Amino acid sequence: MEGINILTIKVPLKDANKVKTILIREENLDGNYKTLKERLFVYFPIKTSFKTKYVITNKELETLEHLPHSLKDALKTILTKDEMEKVKTAYDCIGDIAILEIDRELRKKEKVIANTLLRVRRDIKTVVRKEGSHEGTFRVQKMKYLAGENKKETIHKENNIRLMLDIEKVYFSPRLSLERMRIAELVNNSKSRKSKNKKSVNKEDILVMFSGCAPYCCVIAKNAKNKVNSIIGIEINPEGHKYGLENIKLNKLDNVCNINLINGDVKKEIPKLAKTNATFDRILMPLPKHAEDFLPEALAVSKKGTIIHFYDFLHEEKFNEAVEKIKKACEKAKKNCKILEIVKCGQHSPRTFRICVDFRVE
Ligand SMILES: C[S@@+](CC[C@H](N)C(=O)[O-])C[C@H]1O[C@@H](n2cnc3c(N)ncnc32)[C@H](O)[C@@H]1O
Repeated sequence: MEGINILTIKVPLKDANKVKTILIREENLDGNYKTLKERLFVYFPIKTSFKTKYVITNKELETLEHLPHSLKDALKTILTKDEMEKVKTAYDCIGDIAILEIDRELRKKEKVIANTLLRVRRDIKTVVRKEGSHEGTFRVQKMKYLAGENKKETIHKENNIRLMLDIEKVYFSPRLSLERMRIAELVNNSKSRKSKNKKSVNKEDILVMFSGCAPYCCVIAKNAKNKVNSIIGIEINPEGHKYGLENIKLNKLDNVCNINLINGDVKKEIPKLAKTNATFDRILMPLPKHAEDFLPEALAVSKKGTIIHFYDFLHEEKFNEAVEKIKKACEKAKKNCKILEIVKCGQHSPRTFRICVDFRVE
């Protein structure tokens, strides 16, 4: 044992709790050292000697490791001032995996930074670094393993559900949890559904385009369960679809409502649904890049009263462009629409936001 000889009070085990309470009350317990238990006695580290029926003696005790409160605090003792100015100490967590962004100039220190994070956050088991941005049709992102357990699959918890996913094989953003709950709370909400009878509880049929590993499907099914009749999710990435199916099982949602996940292209799958005259009460379009290309498909399975959630990335001075895209597509489909709300649900870059335009087909 590597310890330091310090002042202690030797207390029989049976009196340990009582004495500890007194030491804390008197502010005489030395929090820099670990308490030692030896057979029938406990040695409490104390700051000063005092008159007592117990034995005061010197004892070799281990020092207590004081963990810094944040990655930033911990790095202050490891990086130079110059490096501290460049390091990004904010990070995302998906399950027990932390995802860092590290500038090129600091890459030689990336392992040190990752190991420091593991020391600060005991709940994190793996640290990775983003390599590049979301790419291709699947919108997936490469991650470089840095420290801890070498794994990319985890279980993430949000909004009363658990989501299993591989952070490299399927798109998932923990930052959208509030947005997912916002939509779940809108389900069968009389204000957005324009229901004349506020008591009407017609359950909704919901279509989630671009469903990924099914976070929207699961959050809605779990949190609006009495208000949903059916949910269909469509996802083109086979890995994303596979995790989607897993997540329905993981959250025991099969029996909550009728959930059907389809592995396919929205462009091909929706015409098949339209052929069966399927229509939906609510349609989600969480593909902010190019969602407008899929508005004709969404409108093809809409009916009077359908609410569509259309996502886009736009500069704060250009939110109206999303409204224009919607109006143009509705005109082409010979449908009327009413814009209900424009919601900022994330920041993409300075002054550019992920927005959701909620509109109703009239
Ligand atoms: C931005 S991600 C959103 C995923 C999920 N909804 C979420 O919030 O985590 C967009 C998803 O759309 C899928 N996707 C892209 N084009 C598609 C298409 N034509 N048909 C079906 N899915 C598509 C991608 O594979 C990706 O998983």
